[in-house]
Amino acid sequence: MISFAEKLAIWYYKNKRDLPWRHTSNPYLIWLSEVILQQTRVAQGLPYYLKFIAAFPTVQDMANANEATILRLWQGLGYYSRARNMHKTALNITSNFKGEFPQTYLELLKLTGIGTYTAAAIASFSFNERVAVLDGNVYRVLSRYFANNTDISSPIAKKIFTELANQVLPQTNTNEHNQAIMELGALVCSPKNPNCFACPLESTCQANILGQQINFPVKNKKVKVRERVLNYVLIEYEGKIAMRKRNKNEIWEGLYEFMLFENVKNEPVLRFEEVDLPETLLKNTQLMHVSEQKKHILTHQKLFVTFFYFKIEKEFLSALKNMLIGYSFYDFEEIQRLPKPILLANYWDTIKI
Ligand code: ADE
Repeated sequence: MISFAEKLAIWYYKNKRDLPWRHTSNPYLIWLSEVILQQTRVAQGLPYYLKFIAAFPTVQDMANANEATILRLWQGLGYYSRARNMHKTALNITSNFKGEFPQTYLELLKLTGIGTYTAAAIASFSFNERVAVLDGNVYRVLSRYFANNTDISSPIAKKIFTELANQVLPQTNTNEHNQAIMELGALVCSPKNPNCFACPLESTCQANILGQQINFPVKNKKVKVRERVLNYVLIEYEGKIAMRKRNKNEIWEGLYEFMLFENVKNEPVLRFEEVDLPETLLKNTQLMHVSEQKKHILTHQKLFVTFFYFKIEKEFLSALKNMLIGYSFYDFEEIQRLPKPILLANYWDTIKI
């Protein structure tokens, strides 16, 4: 009987996509591609990968960049701590490892931002270590293949699925096998509409045999979502706009934002009169434009965001002195270059004069 791995290998040989990181074993490029691909799909991730390698062809180049440049390139991918951690690790590799990545799974795991998935991917794709990768695609393929109903959000899931991944891992060519199982998850064994007719594992896949594909993987944990109402105020003074860098321990750390007023009562505000903007602001400025309210969904938060564009004349500026503490004025070109949450970048693109 042909094994899981053999069937998968034949399918992969015929169906794999030609992707740039599949033509290299350079650990820097593998690392970069895998960090990006944890955030997004191949189609969206590819342009980011190309932009990054053009800006930083080596890990030293990334180490030498400043954090804002890295965050600006990452803009739109979300989960910005990944980009900040990438920078930290680039600095660490450059200063403490002579620019060379460690070559084993266990050593790679010690680096900031490199968890079990990324360590396994680098060890496997760059150094041919026999270690199984486990990402969302792999969980899905294995949970269906074995009709395993372990809740993938439970603490025990990682151990159970690592065992299953090792059970199907071949002795040799684990590198290609790892690519292949993720590719099958991405192209055939998709979350909503798996194309089982095109699957090389169809005849032995337990979920398929039971007609239960859609019920796997099992995931019971619901994420708690907090709703927030954010009112962004653009204050234009002599062609510049007030912005500040966002603080630690909040979403978008290290990114730049306009003046922010968050509504105290957390109900989506629909009318301008209900927005909690300070009197001092309204009295001393001229309102030019109010945007529509936009809904923006993050993993743990649902944001309702409105933008208010004000102009202020010199004589009124001192009235806003306290409000402007922590903010600086940036011209339009500088704002273009600063890393911003994608929501702000999109708004900025619509109003740029
Ligand atoms: N998703 C995660 N890693 C991947 C890779 N190396 N190729 C394609 N899709 C992926």
